[in-house]
Amino acid sequence: MRGKGFGKEKRRTDMRREREIFRRFQEETGNRRPYRNAIVRMRKSVPTRVRVKALRQAGLNVFLYPAARVDGCDLLSDSGTGAMTTAQWAELIEGDESYGSNEGYFLLREQLVRTFGEAWRQKDPRRPNLFIFHQGRAAEHALFTIIGKTGNNLIIPSNGHFDTTGANIEANAITAVNLFSKELKQRRDHPFKGDMDVGRLRTLLSEKKQKKQIPLVFLTITNNTGGGQPVSMANIRQVSRISHRNDIPLFFDACRFAENAYFIKQRERGYAKKSIPAIVREMFSHVDGFTVSWKKDGLSNMGGSIVLRPGGLFMKRYPELLEQITDHQILTEGHPTYGGLTGRDLKALARGIATITDEGYLAHRVGQVARFGERLQRAGVPVLTPFGGHAVYLDMNRFFEGTGLAREDYPGIAFTALLLGSYGHRLCELGDFAFGREKDGKQEFPEVNYVRAAIPRLVYEDQDLAACADAIISLYRRREKIPGVVVTYGRDKTLRHFKAQFRLRT
Ligand SMILES: Cc1ncc(COP(=O)(O)O)c(C=O)c1O
Repeated sequence: MRGKGFGKEKRRTDMRREREIFRRFQEETGNRRPYRNAIVRMRKSVPTRVRVKALRQAGLNVFLYPAARVDGCDLLSDSGTGAMTTAQWAELIEGDESYGSNEGYFLLREQLVRTFGEAWRQKDPRRPNLFIFHQGRAAEHALFTIIGKTGNNLIIPSNGHFDTTGANIEANAITAVNLFSKELKQRRDHPFKGDMDVGRLRTLLSEKKQKKQIPLVFLTITNNTGGGQPVSMANIRQVSRISHRNDIPLFFDACRFAENAYFIKQRERGYAKKSIPAIVREMFSHVDGFTVSWKKDGLSNMGGSIVLRPGGLFMKRYPELLEQITDHQILTEGHPTYGGLTGRDLKALARGIATITDEGYLAHRVGQVARFGERLQRAGVPVLTPFGGHAVYLDMNRFFEGTGLAREDYPGIAFTALLLGSYGHRLCELGDFAFGREKDGKQEFPEVNYVRAAIPRLVYEDQDLAACADAIISLYRRREKIPGVVVTYGRDKTLRHFKAQFRLRT
């Protein structure tokens, strides 16, 4: 007679065998989306003549072109999440619009501690460590306006300042220095091209006088200006050690912190078995504060912040600045507990930060960017590799090599205009025009010359991106025929790519 235990044991063995059979049939489904559509936006196709007219009215400036007329992929930016999760939409309904100390504010504070670690909990309400702003550049504006008043001839080094970051620094008479990695500049393959060149940081700090002029060191994760490339944990650790040894606080520009953590897990030795939340906490244990645009890895439409680590070097070295940041916030944004955002935004943001470290989401996100990039690469389009987390960067110097066009012809601008006018896909030039400048009537060009295809989070399917890649490939094959542009307005302006006007050279 069979006993009870025998029956249970047999069921367990059968289940184990069955699981094994299922496992054997399982295949990699890397491109399976970890979400499904719950709301969609219908789009109408726009005739080419309508696009061309709108583009001409915008002076061929893709930033000034109406979004309603983009009927292909709008890859102008990954900023300002265009598709939130149903959980975030639910939070919008639950929004608390109280003027002071609304519910969302406390949810956000708690979520920051959960995501970045217990060390980021501020227990003393007289020393706030979270400063909310309506977006990233407003946070940067506050920080650098205040820092700018602490001394003369200040310098802020970074692995790569984003354009608004650099502009906000320089608007306050501080010099923004980009210490791009050698691998990025030499276009060599490397898993962490976003790293800071620590040799150049050491040189900068070796001069006693110069050292005193550095109030902060910055690391942008991932390095948007440097091709969206990730920064390794080893580099974060090293830059932190060097900065702290010199008594200088280290900050992240943390817009894409979760994507950076995913790359560390994928590419850096010793992190494969660590969870994304654990990697994020380790990354943030090395810094004293961060500025952030929540429009990226906050998975939200709007929002930015300065966040300081209680007990960190920034709070120790500049205790008097905390009140100045609060005053700046009150003057420009509103009460510090909402900082220019609605209460419902704050709740959706807290939920977004909780979602973004999901490994399934990150695997799909980074994989989608790579699949798009690989399609271009297979067709010979020169792209920056390995692919970053939020965008594919087309190398304009190589793209137009041998066509006879000069850098002053800004062929990258002409390419983005043709892609939009002819095919309805919007990309943006982040190279010779955006980062170059006119000095004493002469053009100065940046170290990198890209057109960026930034992939918005949760918005497009692979099929949409494949159509965009095919349009790029088609233009690449006819690159000899692409003319340069004449700048008709704004050549000598600051942040000129947002305002300038062009016409195609005929
Ligand atoms: C690295 C980085 N820093 C700062 C910003 C500025 O943020 P915001 O657009 O919210 O002002 C951006 C925006 O794209 C960015 O990519």
